[in-house]
Amino acid sequence: MAELICGQVLEFTANPFDGPPQDAARLHGALVIENGAIAALGSKADLRAAHPDARVTDLGHALILPGFVDAHMHYPQTGIVASWGKRLIDWLNTYTFPEEMRFGDPAYARQQAELTLDLALAHGTTTLASFCTIHPESVDAFFEAAAARGMAVVAGKTCMDRNASAGLRDDVASAVDHSAALIARWHGRGRARYAITPRFSPTSTPEQLDALGALWAAHPDCLMQTHLSEQPDEVAWVRELFPDARDYLDTYEAHGLLGARGLYGHAIHLEPRERDRLREVGAALVHCPTSNTFIGSGLFDMAARMAEGQRVGLATDTGGGSSFSMLRTMAAAYEIGQLSGTALHPAQLLWLATEGSARALHAADQIGTLAVGSVADLVALDVSSTPAIAQRAARADDIWQAVFPTLMMGDDRAVVGVWTEGTRRI
Ligand code: GUN
Ligand code: ZN
Repeated sequence: MAELICGQVLEFTANPFDGPPQDAARLHGALVIENGAIAALGSKADLRAAHPDARVTDLGHALILPGFVDAHMHYPQTGIVASWGKRLIDWLNTYTFPEEMRFGDPAYARQQAELTLDLALAHGTTTLASFCTIHPESVDAFFEAAAARGMAVVAGKTCMDRNASAGLRDDVASAVDHSAALIARWHGRGRARYAITPRFSPTSTPEQLDALGALWAAHPDCLMQTHLSEQPDEVAWVRELFPDARDYLDTYEAHGLLGARGLYGHAIHLEPRERDRLREVGAALVHCPTSNTFIGSGLFDMAARMAEGQRVGLATDTGGGSSFSMLRTMAAAYEIGQLSGTALHPAQLLWLATEGSARALHAADQIGTLAVGSVADLVALDVSSTPAIAQRAARADDIWQAVFPTLMMGDDRAVVGVWTEGTRRI
């Protein structure tokens, strides 16, 4: 049966980085879901008349958006989110690797996958691109839990054959064999898509990077996700480990791991050559603002990257990131933008958290927009969800002023409805 959802339906009509951001969207009074997809946008009266049999869900003044798309996170790190006092390499060794060791146990992997996806939905996130652990069981657990929730997700087995604890290393052959088997099992099954996942070049030998590059060439419609130039210490380590590489990106490029379907997390400390190559191939840089401040990585210059024409997504990077909320993530992106000299407009922040991230995942034909025919993955936000937010929103003169306090101060209390494939989950 069709469902008519009434609220303030915010549809982007242009990329708000390409022109005046306040003019990049328009508001409708309602939308119609049919067979799990968006069937129409329009006024409440018109859509009621056109769909007299539709079930009506009236959400008052709630803002209706595409569900948030988190373009880079680590579901196995949910249990160690907000761990104190370390920077990247120490943080990995102290907190992350011991926790990731536990994911060879399918029951634990299932529990953490379900917990993470339920937290994501509660925060209005309907799609995640997640790293798993080296254990194939951790990938099965994540895709199974996502399928049970109707969620379109991207995930892959993390590959590491050096510089990781014993028990968390694979090797060249097992990385390729396990990844290939998981691609065969999951890629394109329902809403699942596979990302070949070398963790980052310090934890892979050149031989493993080469083999994963060859695997990607054999499965070019898969995504590839990794980390790039997150912290200066890490960049220096990469230089030591790969003395012949021109720069950090070259450690991927030389092994067939640079492409349009590549997702490069963080990408903060880039050389001009790296920026040029990433833009030329149309690769996606993924901005992880709460992680970049929490682990002390640095300031990603969003405005400069967008002006260059880079493809950029937005992500929580939990558990390096300190929040499951894409609202909190937009707030952090705004604050980091201010430190880099640009106030990102609320339209730009919301676009990044939806269509921008969907484009990074090469999925904007299915998710991240309210285009008719898109899958009905939606979030409804109360823009007056706490007394502090409500008193500020009450003074707003337009929709952007009304929503900005929720971007800056909102959390899961603002999320009043979530749909995946047209089914209400929250
Ligand atoms: N670099 C390599 N692995 C990781 C990780 O798990 N989190 C973050 N933030 N950076 C990484
Ligand atoms: Zn990460």
